[in-house]
Amino acid sequence: MKDLFGREITYLRISVTDRCNFRCSYCMPSEGICKLKHEDILRNEEIVEIVKEMALHGISKIRLTGGEPLIRKGIVDLVREIKQIEGISEITMTTNGYFLEKMLDDLVDAGLDRVNISIDSLKPQRFETITRGGKLDVVLNAIDAAYNSKLRKVKLNTVLIGGFNDDEIEDFVDITKSRNIDVRFIELMPIGVAADWSKDKFVSNDLVLEKASELKPIDYFDKSSPASYYQKEGNLGLVGLINPISCNFCSNCNRIRLTSDGKIKPCLHSDEEIDLLDVIRNHPEDVGDVIKQGVINKPKEHHINDSDFIPIMRDMNKIGG
Ligand code: 5AD
Ligand code: SF4
Repeated sequence: MKDLFGREITYLRISVTDRCNFRCSYCMPSEGICKLKHEDILRNEEIVEIVKEMALHGISKIRLTGGEPLIRKGIVDLVREIKQIEGISEITMTTNGYFLEKMLDDLVDAGLDRVNISIDSLKPQRFETITRGGKLDVVLNAIDAAYNSKLRKVKLNTVLIGGFNDDEIEDFVDITKSRNIDVRFIELMPIGVAADWSKDKFVSNDLVLEKASELKPIDYFDKSSPASYYQKEGNLGLVGLINPISCNFCSNCNRIRLTSDGKIKPCLHSDEEIDLLDVIRNHPEDVGDVIKQGVINKPKEHHINDSDFIPIMRDMNKIGG
């Protein structure tokens, strides 16, 4: 599937639930969220049908996100069924890791290829503060278990927040020392709760390179990835810098998103959404056309840097990054 600007769309990120066992302060309000009604959420078989249709149109890579994908009922079966769809070459997941260790064998058996685990502090008290109650040791154990499992790759996602965890940059880089785990620092995006956060909480990629001065750019380049990669000499893993704000990634964007309430989101930073829930339930014969329409009309680029930019309405826990 090509969009109007000639971009080949091959990657679908599916937010399978807006719920989460954590309440990260930049992602969810402290009081939690209004839960979506059960009937407003795509059922597993509907997700599978949509992925089958998308695979016919060139989607080959799937990432399951949330909220927290591992709290969705039937998630292992969903992984297995998606993995078996013709044309799907890879299925991955972004998780907070809390339930990962005990589900790992089943997920690997179902065909999960890789995981990205979100972790914003290596200090137990801070971790508990940012997640509003999460236990760091559980997530660290999950990272070890995932690394020692048959998963092809483990990556860590760390959202940097000025005055909170920017003094831990070198500790995170050290994770890459003796293990081939990639650590990716993500700039805080103005979405949902974080849309109101003051600018001094944003930690630029340049600051990371200042603090971890031994990082050298490496010759690995995947133009469809928003990360640029670095490595400390002698370390096994890579350090990725993800700069969603100022990077010129849009022209190489290969992704669309599907939300748990059945909306296609052609661009993370646009409120444009296409309802597929009603179509798959009432006009299933039109699903292919609606998907194609969504892709063709994918916006050219985001406008985060414009002075009159208005953050999108949908919260991050309903998109999944
Ligand atoms: N800016 C950047 N990253 C975010 N995430 C959640 N909210 C934001 C935000 N406002 C990250 C999570 C997770 C991934 C799915 O998205 O930490 O790693
Ligand atoms: Fe849950 Fe991830 Fe949001 Fe934290 S950032 S509340 S772990 S969905």
